[in-house]
Amino acid sequence: MRILVTGGAGFLGSHLIDRLMEADHEVICLDNFFTGRKNNIQHWMGHPKFELIRHDITEPIRLEVDQIYHLACPASPIHYQYNPVKTIKTNVLGTMHMLGLAKRVKARFFLASTSEVYGDPDVHPQPEEYRGNVNPIGIRSCYDEGKRVAETLAFDYYRQNGVDIRVVRIFNTYGPRMLENDGRVVSNFIAQALRGKPLTVYGDGSQTRSFCYVSDLIEGFIRLMNSDQTGPINIGNPGEYTILELAQKIQHEINPDVDIVFKPLPQDDPKQRQPDITKAKTYLGWEPTVPLQDGLKHTIDYFREYLNISP
Ligand SMILES: NC(=O)c1ccc[n+]([C@@H]2O[C@H](COP(=O)([O-])OP(=O)(O)OC[C@H]3O[C@@H](n4cnc5c(N)ncnc54)[C@H](O)[C@@H]3O)[C@@H](O)[C@H]2O)c1
Repeated sequence: MRILVTGGAGFLGSHLIDRLMEADHEVICLDNFFTGRKNNIQHWMGHPKFELIRHDITEPIRLEVDQIYHLACPASPIHYQYNPVKTIKTNVLGTMHMLGLAKRVKARFFLASTSEVYGDPDVHPQPEEYRGNVNPIGIRSCYDEGKRVAETLAFDYYRQNGVDIRVVRIFNTYGPRMLENDGRVVSNFIAQALRGKPLTVYGDGSQTRSFCYVSDLIEGFIRLMNSDQTGPINIGNPGEYTILELAQKIQHEINPDVDIVFKPLPQDDPKQRQPDITKAKTYLGWEPTVPLQDGLKHTIDYFREYLNISP
């Protein structure tokens, strides 16, 4: 198949491209390189089945493809809040352009949505039926509400135009190729510990998160795309840890001598987030397989090499 991956030079997109290329598909990577890096896809450059297009999805594009994995959108608060209006344009205009393309060429369309559609949830863990508790005018809204509209658009194209859609709600995912300084907690802690700097915990560290290793997530993507389910389907690891526990694990793994320091909690930071993955288990036969300890080791090895820090 010829498969388009928007945001393909980013963290998740580049891992997805690895899987698709290894399965012998033709892959078109489309990216504006806002948070993506050529390094992430360097190893496929020159491959006859790989094509790279520098393009911003807020502008339309015409391509002939069989499937579209639509991932383009900055994922970390530092980047999506850098230009919030652009983030909305990417989620709304960009998703419309990609759905329009899917409609025109009759491609199956996969939307990378997010657990952020649940906002600061008052139901725990979150099943797909939960409609969320999102602040429409807060500093995270450009992303949260942007993704909610992207889901709405996908379902309206499905109902109105028969576009064959798949919608995944991704929970916190970590692994090699995350950016080291984008404020995401795993990469933050690892980079800080490797540099011998104190680990910064926001709030008292009692807020919990679930952490899914990237290879598990990508397996879920492939299964959903090739299933008969439209979704939305939660993909994430239900193992729940407090942020302080995560800091302590990384501190222990890298350098027990680094301090942990506490800073004020940012606005609208969710207190708890944990996926209910009953649907993924039932309909896709999917569940995570990589324990946090192992995933952290792979991620630490990557950052050690990337930051050029010897063990
Ligand atoms: N990583 C996670 O834990 C997580 C959680 C929930 C949802 N997601 C979603 O998964 C997708 C990928 O996330 P990621 O972690 O790989 O983030 P990322 O920032 O590494 O990747 C996003 C990619 O999209 C590109 N991009 C951004 N705006 C674009 C535009 N207007 N036109 C073309 N390309 C553009 C960036 O350059 C980058 O390569 C995003 O849609 C994100 O919302 C990720």
